[in-house]
Amino acid sequence: MPNWVRLIAANECVVGRGRFVEAAGHELAVFRLEHPPQVVVIRNSCPHAGGNLAAGAVNGTCVTCPWHHWEFDLVSGVCTLSDSARLTRFESRERDGFIEALLPESGEGRHNVTDMAE
Ligand code: FES
Repeated sequence: MPNWVRLIAANECVVGRGRFVEAAGHELAVFRLEHPPQVVVIRNSCPHAGGNLAAGAVNGTCVTCPWHHWEFDLVSGVCTLSDSARLTRFESRERDGFIEALLPESGEGRHNVTDMAE
């Protein structure tokens, strides 16, 4: 069963830069977007070949994987090159000055926002 997990202080996540976070057995990338204003939490593994998306360049709502430069829209989770490549996104929220994500327990099936929508 998924649980809300506290990741980092909200002020540690700034617009234009990803943050790598390990929590509850998951390797995550956390981004803050300006337009629309929101925090996005994804699995820190590029769907192409596992690249470190937290280190990717952020431009608007998109992050570019540092390995082979595939670009993903963080709001939709879809790759701008092919909509068959999608990020694994987790529901997130800010509460009491912290960013939290709804994460499956380690070893539990990989449920996420994108998969549930399919
Ligand atoms: S691993 Fe991300 S584009 Fe190849």
